[in-house]
Amino acid sequence: MHQSCAIVGTAAAAVLAWTMASAAAQEPAQPPRTVKEVMTTMTVPASEAIFRAASESPRNDEQWAALGKAAETLAASGRLLMTPALARDTAAWTAFSRTLVAQATALSKITEAKRGDALEQAGNDLYETCETCHMRYLEDAK
Ligand code: HEC
Repeated sequence: MHQSCAIVGTAAAAVLAWTMASAAAQEPAQPPRTVKEVMTTMTVPASEAIFRAASESPRNDEQWAALGKAAETLAASGRLLMTPALARDTAAWTAFSRTLVAQATALSKITEAKRGDALEQAGNDLYETCETCHMRYLEDAK
């Protein structure tokens, strides 16, 4: 009885801590340990900045630099997904993760060259990678 109360309490605390962490997170305090953590702390915030920029291009150096950081975070998230601890299987998963890294690297170059005209296409390509990987691996997306 006491045992199960303690477990329920711990689970609730973990959920609370998680909710607070993901609300606050841009830069994860420690490396994410699950695919879900990679998504919510790195891939999602970084890609949101990119999708926003695809419809409204950065207007000054500061905004371009911020977008460059987002592209780096996105690439880092793709590299993490490929690590053995997180990879779901070999070929397809790695291919999607590699595509994510390649697109993020291309986005870094776009931000360095401040090519606002290239952002829309890059954003669309990126979105397709998110979608195709989810179609295959995300139960809810099937
Ligand atoms: C390599 C495959 C892969 C790629 C690429 C990928 N995702 Fe995911 N994503 C997943 C998997 C698997 C989950 C489910 C994780 C879980 O709940 O265990 C997920 C979960 C999510 C979630 C739900 C998180 C939650 O709160 O449960 C969001 C949002 C998301 N991804 C956004 C994105 C976006 C945006 C991109 C592209 C920029 C992207 N993902 C690219 C595999 C991928």
